[in-house]
Amino acid sequence: MLQYKKILIGISGGIAAYKCAQLVRLFIKEGAEVKVILTPAASQFITTQTLSVLSKNEVITDFFDNNHNWNNHVKLAEWADLMLIAPLTANTLAKMANGQCDNVLLATYFSAHSKIFVAPAMDFEMYQHPTVLSNLQTLKSNNNIIIPAETGELASGLIGEGRMAEPENILNFIKQYLSLGLPLLNKTVLINAGPTYEAIDPVRFIGNRSSGKMGIAIAECLAEQGAIVTLVLGPSSQIVKNKSIKVIHVESTQDMFEACLENYENKDIVICSAAVADYKLSNPSSSKLKKKETIITLELTKTKDILQTLGEKKQKQFLVGFALETENLTENAKDKLVRKNLDLIVANDAKAEGVGFGHDTNAVTLIDKHNNITNLELKNKSEIAKELVAYIYDCLNKKNDQIK
Ligand code: CTP
Repeated sequence: MLQYKKILIGISGGIAAYKCAQLVRLFIKEGAEVKVILTPAASQFITTQTLSVLSKNEVITDFFDNNHNWNNHVKLAEWADLMLIAPLTANTLAKMANGQCDNVLLATYFSAHSKIFVAPAMDFEMYQHPTVLSNLQTLKSNNNIIIPAETGELASGLIGEGRMAEPENILNFIKQYLSLGLPLLNKTVLINAGPTYEAIDPVRFIGNRSSGKMGIAIAECLAEQGAIVTLVLGPSSQIVKNKSIKVIHVESTQDMFEACLENYENKDIVICSAAVADYKLSNPSSSKLKKKETIITLELTKTKDILQTLGEKKQKQFLVGFALETENLTENAKDKLVRKNLDLIVANDAKAEGVGFGHDTNAVTLIDKHNNITNLELKNKSEIAKELVAYIYDCLNKKNDQIK
């Protein structure tokens, strides 16, 4: 797919620049032709010699080359079938968002007509800063494609979101974009998954058997299709493979409630797949309970209904809930759809074979707010996730058509 494609890689000055040697190699292995431009700061993190040997081309660092020839940035921009800026630092991002053009990389960017991908790399706090977020938003509005930063250890020693996507993931992202067009590109999603634990005392809790598998499968599928996904995950032993997913780990219903509300605004799609506890202890003990009594009574109080609250605060979000039922599946699910102001509900029959908590398979009934009912037969949770995501995508497109 990338064979003979002309790829222009712009490297700005962040420590992740060292990964660009590998990135260039990967593109060359795919049969692409690669040229590299460095900002002055980037040359401090990776040498032109390394990149020149790997790309088999002279590396551009200035408007003038060693022989005082003018490097025509317009020609360079025209040459490229695709431009990738990786790592994208906060500084280069700010200049791109504001039309500042003080080096050859920026001049080429402003001259480019090809698709432009950017792979941000920053420290955790920087990546969260409102100015950085607003600059990324500007780039998105200008049709640049953001390859989300990944979560992990950062150069500062902090652990969080902001690492440049790994070279293999950048390559796969671009290949997937070119082959599928990434249907959910840059759509923002909030999803919750897994169980919640309500403390009895510091060592015991009331929980449920949810594994989080279904919600994680949906989150992975959305991210693969280009969505920017925040996953609020209750205690789960499952691994989230896609590093672009921002995972917020929580334990209790109250923690999940707060994390969901904090991340709700401006999301395009919100999915509540978590098996949230309906009751918590009225007074959890701060010390371990001793087994003095033969019978003890725990007083329980209703928890907050996360989905109901999100439904009340709904603006543009496409809101999806789940319903776990043992009887009257469709009727009970429809009632929740209306009561919680949802666009779509995914109903599970808790008594059916191979369905629900802990299983790798699932079978669900989708009911939308127009009363369309679709049954998804028993299959692997990742297959159910794909069909559900495709259904949501169709609903969003119908909604857009109605607005037009
Ligand atoms: N839910 C929630 N907060 C709660 C309870 C449930 O957000 N405190 C959400 C679940 O994530 C799910 C939907 O509400 O998307 C329905 O959950 P379910 O357990 O099927 O129903 P409940 O509303 O709890 O009602 P009941 O237990 O009476 O069936």
